[in-house]
Amino acid sequence: MLKKLICLFLAAGFVFVLIGTTAAFEQGNERKGKYIFRKNCRSCHQEGKSAEPLNPVSKTQAQWERAFQRYERLECADEWESLSETDRTDILTYLYNHAYDSPSPATCE
Ligand code: HEC
Repeated sequence: MLKKLICLFLAAGFVFVLIGTTAAFEQGNERKGKYIFRKNCRSCHQEGKSAEPLNPVSKTQAQWERAFQRYERLECADEWESLSETDRTDILTYLYNHAYDSPSPATCE
């Protein structure tokens, strides 16, 4: 009986740890996000273009989340505004999942 209880507690603890480490936002479609990012953001955020080059590894997961929570403050807020909420979530999912401190950082282009 005691063994069972201990197992139950361990399992519950594991679930809490899992919840604690997953993203604070609802995950979107990463593959779509990558496409939308390249099409709508990299047009400016690229070497030789008007803005700082940006890649998933340019920021940490926390930094990406913050940027998306407060995108209204960015110089390119209009570009973000022209996308749907779903598109923005998809982009964030792509950037977040391959951020500098993610388990699978983006390698190159
Ligand atoms: C019309 C050109 C243009 C487009 C398109 C554009 N941006 Fe920007 N963005 C800028 C400029 C200019 C700045 C401010 C200067 C800089 O950072 O180079 C900026 C700033 C930023 C910053 C803050 C700078 C930093 O390094 O933290 C982030 C993050 C960002 N953009 C993300 C995006 C994302 C994501 C998209 C696609 C949804 C996007 N931008 C689309 C021009 C653009």
